Amino acid sequence: MQIEYDLRQAKIRDATHIGHLSRTIIEYELGWSWTPQRIIKKIKDKNTNVVVAVEGNHVVGFVVMGYLENEAHLDLFGVDPDYQRKGVGTKLIAWVEKTALVSGIGIIYLETRLKNETGRKFYQKLGYKNIQRIHQYYDGKETAIRLAKDLWLNESCKSI
Ligand SMILES: CC(C)(COP(=O)(O)OP(=O)(O)OC[C@H]1O[C@@H](n2cnc3c(N)ncnc32)[C@H](O)[C@@H]1OP(=O)(O)O)[C@@H](O)C(=O)NCCC(=O)NCCS
Repeated sequence: MQIEYDLRQAKIRDATHIGHLSRTIIEYELGWSWTPQRIIKKIKDKNTNVVVAVEGNHVVGFVVMGYLENEAHLDLFGVDPDYQRKGVGTKLIAWVEKTALVSGIGIIYLETRLKNETGRKFYQKLGYKNIQRIHQYYDGKETAIRLAKDLWLNESCKSI
């Protein structure tokens, strides 16, 4: 089924939905660290970009990206299960990658649960590489994989 959605900067009113969706699809079986209050702080933070995919007023996907001086960190990212595999995630990541590039940032780091095979396949397709295994990263009990992407490398390859 074709879906119609837009991407936009998140508003404070989106935080509750983002937090609850994140708890269900990302932080399941873990403590709830990405609460609506924490997401509101990120929406207000000038060094963080919170972008949502919306169908009408309904949030169907979100990404939270923090920008440091020389690198960016993908903090939180997910798509509503009813809207997955329709390109929403790819568009959200393209938005924050482009924002990083225009800010002069070439490297993005992120962590994901070792057992999250879907997430790892997604990132792999977008050119992210596994760089580190971090034991007890989540709640002191679950292993994470750290991934990275060199945006400048990908950009410069396009023009060769
Ligand atoms: C990972 C996630 C964000 C992907 O979002 P999405 O909108 O479904 O992704 P897209 O439709 O843009 O998929 C792009 C590509 O990723 C890969 N991919 C996505 N979902 C996949 C799956 N279930 N199995 C295998 N590959 C998958 C495919 O290569 C896909 O391209 P294709 O559909 O042409 O084959 C989504 O599955 C999700 O929210 N998962 C739960 C939360 C999560 O894992 N967050 C990220 C890590 S914390």
